[in-house]
Amino acid sequence: MKNQYEPIQTEIVKIEELSPINKLFTLRIKNEQTQNAFKFRHGQFFILSVPGFGEAPFGFCSSPTIKETFQVSVDKRGSLTTKLFEFKVGADIGIRGPYGNGFDRKKIKNRNLVLVAGGCGLSPLRTIIQDANLHPENFQNIQIFYGCRNSELLAFKKDYTDWSKNIEINLTVDTPDKKWKNNVGVVTNLLTLEKIKSDSVAILVGPPIMYKFVIQKLVELGLSDEDIYVSLERRMHCGIGICQHCALVGGKYVCTDGPLFSYAEIKDTPEGI
Ligand SMILES: Cc1cc2nc3c(=O)[nH]c(=O)nc-3n(C[C@H](O)[C@H](O)[C@H](O)COP(=O)(O)OP(=O)(O)OC[C@H]3O[C@@H](n4cnc5c(N)ncnc54)[C@H](O)[C@@H]3O)c2cc1C
Ligand code: FES
Repeated sequence: MKNQYEPIQTEIVKIEELSPINKLFTLRIKNEQTQNAFKFRHGQFFILSVPGFGEAPFGFCSSPTIKETFQVSVDKRGSLTTKLFEFKVGADIGIRGPYGNGFDRKKIKNRNLVLVAGGCGLSPLRTIIQDANLHPENFQNIQIFYGCRNSELLAFKKDYTDWSKNIEINLTVDTPDKKWKNNVGVVTNLLTLEKIKSDSVAILVGPPIMYKFVIQKLVELGLSDEDIYVSLERRMHCGIGICQHCALVGGKYVCTDGPLFSYAEIKDTPEGI
């Protein structure tokens, strides 16, 4: 029987420092046949492991249509990510997955798409953004609303010029520096009647406190509960619905039923949001 926890040997082929606490890793599965068979959808995640330093879940952050490699943006937090930050190009890591429900493209076909991100939440949304930028013919209007504590922490800054050819980008920071000429304040302030079409589909990725206020605003602006999606982050171990670490009250698992849930699906789940 195949060991479902067995990691796939993967090589780091590129490392970019995006902010003082964040690095973008480009990864390639070493076995060509396994690489060719490895497919993921928007919103899915994988478990990354380093022997002796454990494993943790990370969202894909590059377009699923790029076949040879994929990317992950990592914030330096504890033992695993600190070890990862020491690695150089050519180092080996393990991965398993892809896991999670991911986002069904049919749900956004011919719809206006509102992507709301806070902090490192822009990272999993980058799969959709990059895909839309590479294949604009497959997408309708896309708007990004992205907020961070300060401009230094804004993720993927180098990509914005390219993205803005096909996508509307709205940025805001809590604490502006002298060079900042853009919006100041919480991301909720950017969501206005003039900006948001009531028949949009929204996907939210960020800290839980952001969800509460953004959902309230989007509902006020006319979006239905079924058209608001949130990505839940929970402590995960197995990633495949066995260990109970990510179980929500009511029997759903964030690792297998999520991490993306519609607001309609979890609004009545205690501690869901
Ligand atoms: C579906 C999913 C996707 C993720 N995608 C990314 C990603 O793309 N990039 C990224 O940088 N991180 C991502 N994370 C978070 C990442 O898995 C954790 O930060 C991981 O624990 C880091 O491992 P570590 O050993 O470095 O830190 P740890 O030693 O595990 O933790 C360091 C600190 O962070 C806290 N912490 C860690 N995870 C959580 C959590 N889920 N909720 C609350 N506090 C927590 C710990 O309590 C501790 O204080 C994702 C998590 C999930 C569930
Ligand atoms: S992480 Fe083990 S059940 Fe979800």
